[in-house]
Amino acid sequence: MMAYQWFKAFHLVGIVVWFAGLFYLVRLFIYHVEAKEQPEPAQTILQQQYQLMEKRLYNLITTPGMVLTVAMAIGLLTTEPAIFKERWLHIKLAFVVALIAYHVYCGYLMRQLAAGQCTWSSQKLRALNEVPTVFLVAIVLLAVFKNNLPTGIATWGIVGMIILMAITIQLYARKRRLEKEKAQSPDIQPLHPATQSIEATSTTELGV
Ligand code: HEM
Repeated sequence: MMAYQWFKAFHLVGIVVWFAGLFYLVRLFIYHVEAKEQPEPAQTILQQQYQLMEKRLYNLITTPGMVLTVAMAIGLLTTEPAIFKERWLHIKLAFVVALIAYHVYCGYLMRQLAAGQCTWSSQKLRALNEVPTVFLVAIVLLAVFKNNLPTGIATWGIVGMIILMAITIQLYARKRRLEKEKAQSPDIQPLHPATQSIEATSTTELGV
């Protein structure tokens, strides 16, 4: 019984680490792609830096998070093999397989970016970054409610509100981005956050 609780505790730790990695990774892809808008040498410096950050995040955080989650799940199932027969677990496993496919695909995108062969726009990557949220909500609901997943009107109301909130946040972010782009003169490239810090450092070094 004690072993089961240890497995469950570290199953949850693994999930947090895995998802932190998945969310941050695609965010880095967005910055990596947007670095193309910068003039040289900033462009190359930024791209090399993002490439390094992505590789470390994927290999040292995200993949170990996935391995920990799955290893602890195997521990849970070997301690309580009866759970294997549960219907909720079968549905959950289908989502987990899709999530692992997403993880592997992110690794593929990372290698494409490193080779300068990625054709995804930052807009498309922003949409891709929403995919793990859907898996997260579905899997957690299944793990918590199990075979009694609530399907009443109140549940759908909550789901609808979450979707509406997500859409509103996206639209607001888009509006702010467009406003910022409009405010900038067409021949001056908007400074990337990382470039701003490079600039800040160099001016400090010069004592300006
Ligand atoms: C190889 C894949 C996985 C398997 C076989 C698996 C299996 C299990 C098992 C057997 C439990 C214990 C259930 C209980 O004691 O009530 C559990 C708990 C849990 N799992 Fe997973 N899991 C997997 C992946 C995931 C993933 C990817 C997530 C999240 C996205 C997740 C979220 C949870 C949560 C939140 C609990 C705690 C539920 C509770 O105690 O009420 N699992 N999992």
